[in-house]
Amino acid sequence: MSNILSRMYILGIETSCDETGAAVIDTSFNVYSNVVASQTEIHSKYGGIVPEIASRNHIIKIYSVVEEAISKSGLSFEDIEVIAVTRSPGLMGSLLVGVTFANGLAYASKKKVIGVNHLEGHLAAIRLSSDVLKPPFVGMVVSGGHTNIYEVKKWGEYTQIGTTLDDAAGEAFDKVSRLLGFGYPGGPEIERYAKYGNEDLIKFPSVMPDRIDVSFSGLKTFVIDYLKKNPINSEQDKFDIAASFQLAVARTLFERAVLASNITGIKKILFSGGVAFNSYIRDYFLAHSVDHDLEIFFPEKRFCTDNAAMIAAASVRRIEEGSFDDVFSLTASPSSEL
Ligand code: KG4
Ligand code: ZN
Repeated sequence: MSNILSRMYILGIETSCDETGAAVIDTSFNVYSNVVASQTEIHSKYGGIVPEIASRNHIIKIYSVVEEAISKSGLSFEDIEVIAVTRSPGLMGSLLVGVTFANGLAYASKKKVIGVNHLEGHLAAIRLSSDVLKPPFVGMVVSGGHTNIYEVKKWGEYTQIGTTLDDAAGEAFDKVSRLLGFGYPGGPEIERYAKYGNEDLIKFPSVMPDRIDVSFSGLKTFVIDYLKKNPINSEQDKFDIAASFQLAVARTLFERAVLASNITGIKKILFSGGVAFNSYIRDYFLAHSVDHDLEIFFPEKRFCTDNAAMIAAASVRRIEEGSFDDVFSLTASPSSEL
């Protein structure tokens, strides 16, 4: 990358779901600020995200979150040349808040704008950790909305080779957490309680172990069936189910990493998205990778769950290509295609 590019500053904006995020990075992936205003508390009383409430809260928060990201960056707004914003996929009302705000800001301040795919953001999050992983690699985006496996030939060239046939992995964490009477979001809750449980107590079978596609709804159904036959009698019962379920998710995902490596002949695996925040699953991947000669990469935890630094990171290849969007035509889209 040229010196000129390495001096460019990017404001990232993320509003695809229930986090209002803004971040300032540069084209060498240095992060100057990364502000995330979570709506978790608001949605937790409904047990999941309420789209209408999410978009209204983005409107309330976006201005102050962007202002905070700029002030924390130590830079001034004039230093920023590019505004990168999540344009797809996600909740339409939520996406529109970010895209409309970014377009307005870019137009008024004569800055460039780039619409980013959120899933590319999850992949590009790894570049914020000193840009260690170079394509080709297998990229697994495992979040609340997606469980997608890509062959990444180069940054910007993604071939999906596997996905979930029903629920995303994070969604399964959220649903099983609800079944066990734990809170929302379910991933962190299950991870916390699983520490007290015996993961070997319940042997949840692998669903379609030989296929690259996964079915987390199938795994959730095993949990429901188990609960019907074995009603919960104690807190310990819940901890054991949480631990056994978490192991089943880790195993299911790792089996797909191995299959993806066999299909592509690529040994480097990137595991990203909100579920990659889970230390148990990270450790499982690292421990088992040795047997399969795989090299595993994770973004830093703070860049695994939704944030705007990863959105800005995904825009860097577009800046390098000189491929910017037009403020008059950039719009939100629910499509997840990369
Ligand atoms: O990437 P993300 O922040 O948002 C989406 O793009 O969906 O992912 C959110 C998902 C939620 O389903 C949440 O339960 C899950 O990531 N998650 C976790 C953990 N932290 C968040 N899953 C397992 N273990 C965790 N520690
Ligand atoms: Zn996400």
